[in-house]
Amino acid sequence: MQTRRIGDVQVSAIGLGGMPMSIEGRPDEQRSIATIHAALDAGVTLIDTADAYHRDAGEVGHNETVIAQALASYGRDTSEVLVATKGGHLRPGDGTWTLNGSPEYLKQACDASLKRLGVEAIGLYQFHRPDPRTPYADSVGAIRDLLDAGKIRMAGISNANPAQIRQANEILGGRLVSVQNQFSPAFRSSEVELELCAEMGIAFLPWSPLGGISNAGGLGSRFAAFAEVGAAHGVSPQQVCLAWMLAKAPVVVPIPGSSRPETIRDSVNAVDLALTTEELTRLDAA
Ligand SMILES: NC(=O)c1ccc[n+]([C@@H]2O[C@H](COP(=O)([O-])OP(=O)(O)OC[C@H]3O[C@@H](n4cnc5c(N)ncnc54)[C@H](OP(=O)(O)O)[C@@H]3O)[C@@H](O)[C@H]2O)c1
Repeated sequence: MQTRRIGDVQVSAIGLGGMPMSIEGRPDEQRSIATIHAALDAGVTLIDTADAYHRDAGEVGHNETVIAQALASYGRDTSEVLVATKGGHLRPGDGTWTLNGSPEYLKQACDASLKRLGVEAIGLYQFHRPDPRTPYADSVGAIRDLLDAGKIRMAGISNANPAQIRQANEILGGRLVSVQNQFSPAFRSSEVELELCAEMGIAFLPWSPLGGISNAGGLGSRFAAFAEVGAAHGVSPQQVCLAWMLAKAPVVVPIPGSSRPETIRDSVNAVDLALTTEELTRLDAA
């Protein structure tokens, strides 16, 4: 498995996104565990989650719990696996996503994630999304305090613009290790943040890299170039998409979501797919 760097940790160049295993339309727990085990078998050492990946209000942290169970039941050493979780989003249970970026809330949320993950320090803790009711500096200040207190080993942010990336890195004293923003063939406006991360040497984790849970399967029909390049290599359009992202910069670590062993196994093969300059230009223009 090829690796990339998040802070001082080497992780698989493709991570596993946990959201489809815990929100609406999720599979039963057995299939989720099998999916996580398939990812580990394939060499995945980065799993992305959040306390807000759940369905009903009473099951906050569902995804963190499933991941903790899957790691505990794997039967082999998982100490190299980086679990990246987030705080700052909430789901009241009616399908909506709400925000709380207050320092007090973030600190409580981190404590709860620590318990669910069963660790002494969270490998990577990401501030999920700016909350307009809390100054950004205050939210990121809470993440800095968690870092200083040793409750989290590394700090990241998500859904941030270039000014927020610079501000967060400053507040964290140069210790910002990752930015997680939406980026896919259908959503390219975060290329500016990707380029900034490449310049700053900070990992960039594209979320919904295949277009999101409901659109991922149809990526090749929406973007024919990805299907055509895939056909030329005998691989799926989704694999082409992830290889195209990996080729953008060495800081890019896509985290495709999965709820089936087959899909994460297919996605992981993107690390070995070499696309030509001509193909990459064509996909950029698609
Ligand atoms: N920071 C944020 O605000 C934020 C927001 C959204 C998501 N995220 C994170 O980003 C991760 C990825 O985003 P996402 O799950 O929304 O969308 P996505 O990765 O674009 O799409 C997920 C879907 O893609 C399918 N898939 C995966 N690999 C495939 C392959 N090789 N061939 C065909 N289909 C494939 C999966 O199907 P199956 O379910 O059938 O396996 C899955 O349901 C999430 O899981 C979450 O960890 C973060």
